[in-house]
Amino acid sequence: MDTVLSGIRSTGHLHLGNYFGALKNFVKIQDDYRCFFFIADLHSLTTHPHPDDFHSSVRTILAEYLAAGLDPEKSAIYIQSDVPEISELYVLLNMISYVGELERTVTFKEKVRQNPNNVNAGLLTYPVLMASDILIHRAQWVPVGKDQEQHLELARVFARRFNNMYGADIFPEPHNLVFTGGAVKVPGLDGSGKMGKSNGNGIYLYDDEKTITKKVMKAVTDSGPTEPDSPMPEVIANLFTLLGLVSDRSTVDYFTEKWNDCSIRYGDLKKQLAADICKVTLPIRERIDAIYNDESYLSEVVASGREKARASAAATLALVKQAVGFKAF
Ligand code: TRP
Repeated sequence: MDTVLSGIRSTGHLHLGNYFGALKNFVKIQDDYRCFFFIADLHSLTTHPHPDDFHSSVRTILAEYLAAGLDPEKSAIYIQSDVPEISELYVLLNMISYVGELERTVTFKEKVRQNPNNVNAGLLTYPVLMASDILIHRAQWVPVGKDQEQHLELARVFARRFNNMYGADIFPEPHNLVFTGGAVKVPGLDGSGKMGKSNGNGIYLYDDEKTITKKVMKAVTDSGPTEPDSPMPEVIANLFTLLGLVSDRSTVDYFTEKWNDCSIRYGDLKKQLAADICKVTLPIRERIDAIYNDESYLSEVVASGREKARASAAATLALVKQAVGFKAF
C-alpha cells in the first residue's frame, strides 16, 4: 500500500479552502492508503509565535482535523515535534542541501521581501524540514497546492541526491497527489482569487452562523448583468464556485438561470450561499468544540499517532544512519 502524507502549519483555523481543497479528500482516502497527517508545529516557529499561544494553536488544528473526519484508527495523526526522528533526519539532509538552491526558492524570496527583519536560518531551510517530514516515512504521495510544488520538487532532489551519494535505495521520490476531479480551487470572498489565511477573505470551519452570514453578505459583487447570457466577471463566478461546493445542483441551476436572464438578485444568492455553507460547517463546528474540550480523547489520539509515526520514522532513520556510516560502539 502506498503512503500518503500531508502536513499543516499550526497557525489560525482551517478555512473552506483547506476543507474542500484538501481535508475532504483526505477523509475519503484513509482506507486506500497508509496515511500520515501531522501538524507542523516546528514549521510554525519560523514566525516566533508567543509561547502562551503555541500549544493552543496545535490543539485547535488537531480538533478541527478530527472534527472534519480524519480518523485516528485508520491514519497516523500526530504532532511533528513528537517525532524527534524528523529533526534528526533534518540535520542529515541539511548536509546535502545547498544554500544556493534554498535561496532560489520562491517562498523564501517572498518571505525575505515581506519580513526583512526576520530572515532566520529556519526559513531558509524550511524546505529541508519539509523534505524530512516526507522522506522519514518514505512517502510516495504528498497532496500539495501550487504554492508548495517547489518544496516538493526539492524533496525529490534531496531524495535522489541522498540515494546517489550513499549508493542506497532508501527514498522513493515523492509526487503530488492530485485528487480525481482535479484540484479544487476555493476562491475567497474579496474577489482576489484563492481563499487564504493571510488575506482575510476566508470563511472558517469554526465561524458561527452570524459570522458566516455577515462575511458572505459582504462579499464583493458588481452592478449586475445588463445583457442576457453575458460573460460572468470573476467576482461573481467565485460566488458560483462556492455555491457549487456547498449547494445542490438545482440551486446552482436556479441562480445560473437568473444570471443568464439578468433577473439575479445578489442578495438572494448570498443568503442561499450563506445558508448552504452553514449546513456544511455548523455540524463540524459543534464537533470541534466537543473534541477541543475532551482532553483525555485528544491525549489518546496524540499518543497513538506518535507511536505509529515514530515506529515508521525509526525504521527509516536506522537505514539512513547505516548508509551514512554511523556505527554503534
Ligand atoms: N509547508 C506546508 C504548508 O505551508 C506545510 C507542510 C510542512 C507540509 N511539512 C509538510 C505539507 C510535509 C506537506 C508535506 O502548507
